[in-house]
Amino acid sequence: MSLRGVKIVGVGHHAPAHVVTNVDLEQWLDTSDEWITTRTGMKRRHWASPDEATSDLALAAAQGALRYANLRPTDIDCFIVCTVTPDYYFPATACLVAARLGAKDKPAFDISIACSGFIYGLTVASGLVRSGVYPRVMLIGAETLSKILNKADRSTAILFGDGAGAVILETSEENSFLSSELGSDASRPEMLYVRSSGSRHPIDHAALDESLNLIHMQGREVFKSAVTKMISATDKALAKARLNKSDVTFLIPHQANKRIIDAAAHYLEVPSDKVVTNIHEYGNTSAASIPIALSETVHAGKIKPGNVIVFVAFGGGLSWGAVAWRWAA
Ligand code: UT7
Repeated sequence: MSLRGVKIVGVGHHAPAHVVTNVDLEQWLDTSDEWITTRTGMKRRHWASPDEATSDLALAAAQGALRYANLRPTDIDCFIVCTVTPDYYFPATACLVAARLGAKDKPAFDISIACSGFIYGLTVASGLVRSGVYPRVMLIGAETLSKILNKADRSTAILFGDGAGAVILETSEENSFLSSELGSDASRPEMLYVRSSGSRHPIDHAALDESLNLIHMQGREVFKSAVTKMISATDKALAKARLNKSDVTFLIPHQANKRIIDAAAHYLEVPSDKVVTNIHEYGNTSAASIPIALSETVHAGKIKPGNVIVFVAFGGGLSWGAVAWRWAA
């Protein structure tokens, strides 16, 4: 099969209006703005209101991407939402978004791989476009992590936020997708997981009493793996694309911790003005963090045709991945 090219023709993002600052968190947690800022780089995060769900954020981001690309919902051939906070177990959040956009009868499915969602999604969506199976794909990363946060646990409550980012990929003469490197290791799922909710430990009263239906993380362990795996995934993605570190124009990493981002950027020798960070504004939005950062950077007019972008992420699973991408005109 001869592969076609793929490029991004639309970007959009959206976050809930409600902002929670570090100072707000100080009101009910034994924490401080100073601790959160120096340990994570976070200052604010957006949390959905009780009546706001993941598909609401995804829908707004998708509408933004359609406006940017000057396309109608019915022009999209397939919808993918990367999320670990779907509206329901089923139907898939992507089906809800497609229906609400009025894209009747279109294929739609979710990808559940936590913070690596957008990297896996970009790999899958690029494959669908390049193979000609679906020439135009809407790929969305969307989360409402505030809904599964233990707001009394200072080690996780400060970290996560809500938001959505969307990209539209389509067939192109040029090819933006240069390489992908993905990985996973679930030998210790308890490092970062929601213990009770699925078939292993369905939610019951005991689980609710112990908050086992909410995010649990062994932060220090995850931190170490994140740095190692993000660097090795980037190395492998660059090697597959026959690129050197010096070819990288922009690094757009998952926004889990500013210290993790700095370590990856230091290794890659990418100067700080080419490392895209918005962690101060959104915190960790899991699968949404990279597409939000990409959308903001594109809207700011910073990315030029020919620029090489490395997208890299690490998260629950454990899972990780990097994609090398050459921005097309
Ligand atoms: O997106 C998925 C991937 N996620 C990540 O990559 C997150 C990776 N982990 C991290 O980013 C960091 O480990 C954290 C930000 C979660 C924690 O930072 P740390 O520097 O690893 O701190 P720590 O867990 O080693 O805790 C150091 C101290 C502890 O106190 P003691 O035992 O030294 O007395 C904690 O109890 O900081 C304490 N602590 C806090 N203090 C004030 C933990 N959370 C807080 C807090 N405010 N919010």
